[in-house]
Amino acid sequence: MRASRFPLFTSKDTPADAEIISHQLMLRAGLIEKLGAGLYTWQPLGLRVLRRVEQAVREEMDRIGALEVLMPAVQPAELWEESGRWSFYGPELLRLKDRHDRDFCIGPTHEEVITDYARREIRSYRQLPLTFYQIQTKFRDEIRPRFGIMRAREFLMKDAYSFHLDQASLEASYQDMRSAYTRIFKRLGLRFAAVGADSGAIGGSVSEEFMVLAESGEDEILSCSHCDYAANTEVGDGRSAGDACPQCSEGAIEIHRGIEVGHIFQLGTKYSEAMEAHVLDEHGEQKPMIMGCYGIGVSRVVAAAIEQNHDDRGIVWPTPLAPFDIGLVSIGADRSSAVAEAAERLYAELRDAGFEVLWDDREARPGVKFADMELIGIPHRLVIGERGLEKGEIEYRNRGAEDNENWPLDQLIPTLLERIGSPSSSSAG
Ligand SMILES: Nc1ncnc2c1ncn2[C@@H]1O[C@H](COP(=O)(O)OP(=O)(O)O)[C@@H](O)[C@H]1O
Ligand SMILES: [Mg+2]
Ligand SMILES: [Zn+2]
Repeated sequence: MRASRFPLFTSKDTPADAEIISHQLMLRAGLIEKLGAGLYTWQPLGLRVLRRVEQAVREEMDRIGALEVLMPAVQPAELWEESGRWSFYGPELLRLKDRHDRDFCIGPTHEEVITDYARREIRSYRQLPLTFYQIQTKFRDEIRPRFGIMRAREFLMKDAYSFHLDQASLEASYQDMRSAYTRIFKRLGLRFAAVGADSGAIGGSVSEEFMVLAESGEDEILSCSHCDYAANTEVGDGRSAGDACPQCSEGAIEIHRGIEVGHIFQLGTKYSEAMEAHVLDEHGEQKPMIMGCYGIGVSRVVAAAIEQNHDDRGIVWPTPLAPFDIGLVSIGADRSSAVAEAAERLYAELRDAGFEVLWDDREARPGVKFADMELIGIPHRLVIGERGLEKGEIEYRNRGAEDNENWPLDQLIPTLLERIGSPSSSSAG
């Protein structure tokens, strides 16, 4: 993309109502735009990041054999009455009526809809196990929407639901999902922990949360200095820093903060019993299906990544999340046709090599262009100007580095491939 055709709606001002750094930077870098409380538009630049999260999630779901569906956002109240949640779910549930005065809600989650789908389509244990997932917009009328898309009212979630005849099968799918989540957050370059959690209102027994580690996180996590023990303090039985680890005898408890980006549950038969989602077992008897449910806050992942990866100049995207792989800055192209031609040629070469490139071809001061590239966090910056061109050199800087390097211009692509690897969009998986 050329910045002349792909406007960077960046801003120097820190919005007054943005309390945490990810919210400030998402607004300043022009990733999102506020429409109302907890309601945001994803601008072109931000949407590219969101799509990268989605792609990683989709690929890892497909890899474990989960089947993608897309369910309606608007759900009939009857289903929620069947599960008992129409009265149980409080004002977070956005309720509405259609023209026939029938009650509906906008889905905060889809257990009811998927259970209804499963009871219509699945007849026999022979069809099990099955896991369905979707990447879809949820609405929760949060009492305190805040931190931008971190705790929004409308947000993008990947929700998945598995169906089983027996507990062993549920446990196997739960482990597959756990591994898929681990691969997703690793792939995205995030530091995270999977912690034992309280199952909360959704019901069920075993549950774990995936936490991106960051100081601004709303959750407190206990972890062991020695083994892999980790728990949300809500389920940590009042343990505090320095206490002995409950799992091994050697480690001590440490306290960290985290942002919940994923949650996996072994649900059991709560919904299938209430909604009579039965299958015939091998003896021809009707059995309620055993279920698991698994969520990832796809949009929240973007904010969590920024909380973990920024400096005083802006966002420092982990490469797999960056909206572009490379930022190409041309300087003085308006004065020098040699620079203009070289930049045009480099832009084509980089794209032919498979890189996603943002070429800042605007007629702006170099300082303005550099500041924008840093604010929006592009991992690799290349600068072409008159002086470099005369010496046959191009300037390179990694977003995380303090100094520039000069590379031979005629060796650009091989040097790039050697230094940064193949384009992240094609190396996925
Ligand atoms: N208001 C919200 N805004 C953005 N993401 C959210 C919001 N609520 C939940 N999520 C994301 O969706 C995932 C699955 O939701 P769930 O576990 O049902 O939410 P919660 O723990 O808030 O009840 C969460 O792990 C979180 O990443
Ligand atoms: Mg949760
Ligand atoms: Zn331990």
